[in-house]
Amino acid sequence: MDVAIEQTIRERIAVEKARTAPPADAIAVPLIPATRYTNPDFFELEMQQIFHRNWLFAGHESEWAEPGAYQLFTRSGAPIVIVRGQDNVLRAFYNSCRHRGAPVTRDVCGVAKRLTCQYHSWSYDTQGKLKAVPDSRSFVDLDTEELALVPVRCEVWQGWVFINEDAQAEPLIDFLGPICEQMLDINGPGMRRVGRQIHRVEANWKLMVDAFLEVYHIRTVHPDNAALLYDDQSVTVSMLPNGHSRLTTEKREELRDFPMVSDQNDNPSVGLLWRQTSTSFGIFPNLVVPMDTGAFTFLSMWPVDQRTTELELNWFAPAWEGEEVPEEHLQRLELFDTVMAQDKANMAPIQASVESPGAQPFQIGWHERLIHHFQRAVDLSIGPDLLPAGTAVSTALDSYVER
Ligand code: FES
Ligand SMILES: [Fe+2]
Repeated sequence: MDVAIEQTIRERIAVEKARTAPPADAIAVPLIPATRYTNPDFFELEMQQIFHRNWLFAGHESEWAEPGAYQLFTRSGAPIVIVRGQDNVLRAFYNSCRHRGAPVTRDVCGVAKRLTCQYHSWSYDTQGKLKAVPDSRSFVDLDTEELALVPVRCEVWQGWVFINEDAQAEPLIDFLGPICEQMLDINGPGMRRVGRQIHRVEANWKLMVDAFLEVYHIRTVHPDNAALLYDDQSVTVSMLPNGHSRLTTEKREELRDFPMVSDQNDNPSVGLLWRQTSTSFGIFPNLVVPMDTGAFTFLSMWPVDQRTTELELNWFAPAWEGEEVPEEHLQRLELFDTVMAQDKANMAPIQASVESPGAQPFQIGWHERLIHHFQRAVDLSIGPDLLPAGTAVSTALDSYVER
């Protein structure tokens, strides 16, 4: 990783541990209206303006191992098929036939040379071109050249696959910005999927994201695991462009250099700072990636409805030989499950309280400011003019974004 960034983070950790009052440059973080988590109009806007118009994490390129491999992706709200073409390029299309709109595949995943609609068997190649129309004699002036599947943006950075329904969106690497450089150590192209866990939680998706943007809660919610390992007084954060963020918390001294994974399953490209700390990247809108050596996870918070979220954990580790996942990686998944169970149990009662008439705007500490940064990016992504009255957050932290 960049030596200057490492140096800066280490210096900031030292400052954080030493301070006994808010830092000199801190301001009172403006309040966050509780209605953002409850207003149905706000939720509708989020679906339309955020999830249909931002880069969303869809997996690792190794999951489309061969030409013709495809997977359905429905998390943005529209059915999309992501397919590796015979030319080896990954592409995404709406899963909707040009004849009368039916799905061109109903399987969640598979490998095929053609995607054939089950309604009347129009069939498309893996690059989306219409190749066969049964009984074409009955169509007047059918221009099959024009009738390709409708494309969706699909870009791959370091092996990580993202899709975006907005044809005008900036390229993925521009959107990710400094994250691209700072997450390089994980060596994405060398990763392989370990497993996936999905938890359904009765809470608004932003309440879930907020919970992963601070470590203030670990002493109370995770006293028997995370709080034993990490020193919450060391937390240092960066507000990055486009609502992204970085959150670093140092491990307690006695555990700082304790190896967390055997040499055999270690990821040699992960740098020392990422080993001595918990550093997680928040990628707008709904992805959190805690860097780690060995197996590590991409956490996505997918809205189901205004008060229901699916927390999806996609685990990856350096590619290993053979079919069987190393036991050590599976144990890490299990261990993390106990932390997730605590977060999960925490959430539904919070949603109920936030929905009560007694709920007041949230008071945010300086050490929790990434929450405000994320919420501000939500406003910007929706478009401030469209926000329901009284739901916007302040612009007061905009000048703290590190360009
Ligand atoms: S809707 Fe697809 S072939 Fe008719
Ligand atoms: Fe937590």
